[in-house]
Amino acid sequence: MGVLSSRPRVGPWVDPPRQDGRRFVVTGASSGVGLMTARILAHRGAHVVLAVRDVAKGEQVAASIGGSSEVRRLDVADLSSVRAFAAEVGSVDVLVNNAGVMGLPFARSVDGFELQLATNHLGHFALANLLLPRIGDRVVVVSSRAHHTGDLDLSDLDWSRRGYQGYAAYAASKLANLLFLAELQRRLTAAGSTLRATGAHPGSTYTGITQSGGNPVLAWIGRHGHPLVGMPPWRGALPSVYAATMDVPGNTFVGPHALGEMYGWPTSVGRSRSALDPDLARRLWEASEAMTGVGFGL
Ligand SMILES: NC(=O)c1ccc[n+]([C@@H]2O[C@H](COP(=O)([O-])OP(=O)(O)OC[C@H]3O[C@@H](n4cnc5c(N)ncnc54)[C@H](OP(=O)(O)O)[C@@H]3O)[C@@H](O)[C@H]2O)c1
Repeated sequence: MGVLSSRPRVGPWVDPPRQDGRRFVVTGASSGVGLMTARILAHRGAHVVLAVRDVAKGEQVAASIGGSSEVRRLDVADLSSVRAFAAEVGSVDVLVNNAGVMGLPFARSVDGFELQLATNHLGHFALANLLLPRIGDRVVVVSSRAHHTGDLDLSDLDWSRRGYQGYAAYAASKLANLLFLAELQRRLTAAGSTLRATGAHPGSTYTGITQSGGNPVLAWIGRHGHPLVGMPPWRGALPSVYAATMDVPGNTFVGPHALGEMYGWPTSVGRSRSALDPDLARRLWEASEAMTGVGFGL
């Protein structure tokens, strides 16, 4: 693993350290930021497990990215799929929890949870904890600037008492990502583990995510605005690659350095007051354990 400094620097960063002999899992590697994260890592010598819900799409990606990779089926919104994947994938150095959906109309996962929380947080919570005994280096959590507007109502994670708003549910799930990051690192440290948890967000990156939710306003903004102001996916992937490969302290959150973290090179970025709330992090962890039936992996 390459070690440059303990603090991300601001400036062009296009040459991640070599990753020969290291094995990465990237969820949602079939498009956008995840695809480019996998591609950059593979080009730096890593073996990358493309953890995807659509295996045929994953095989096309594997054929196109070069380097060493394999495709494994993972529907992160389905806990039985998460368990099957975790049981079979073997040892990994780094798990990159990247897969995500945004702004969906209300829907439930097969396990009965609101689908954005299930995909963006709960499935990844379970995956990380199930894999933890076989992870050699770290867990990377991909969040978003949207977490700043996130409001996590732990008494109504299912949105059964509130009017459902797709984007608000997305923002809440991205806040959940950062609370998970903080609490996971706290637990790792308390357990005396040398494993670490880091986080990243891709600022504004031109991918298909705004098209996935069926929200015409979001889709229009994504289609017309993202190409103008968004970074290309390879640049959006750099914060994830940085968080996955550089010698940063546990609980570091990496994002683009400029334009309100929407654009730029990887650097350490701040987070909302809610994301720093240890009590909220602990209570979300406990709720996530109860919902998934998966506890701390170490
Ligand atoms: N793009 C941005 O500006 C932006 C900004 C902030 C944060 N992010 C975050 O970046 C991450 C990647 O998003 P993106 O922009 O790259 O979007 P994207 O191009 O739509 O990619 C999302 C990926 O997640 C996968 N996925 C969705 N549901 C899944 C499930 N149930 N099981 C397994 N895989 C699933 C998708 O698979 P399919 O190919 O099968 O659909 C796809 O590979 C997300 O966590 C998102 O919240 C993105």
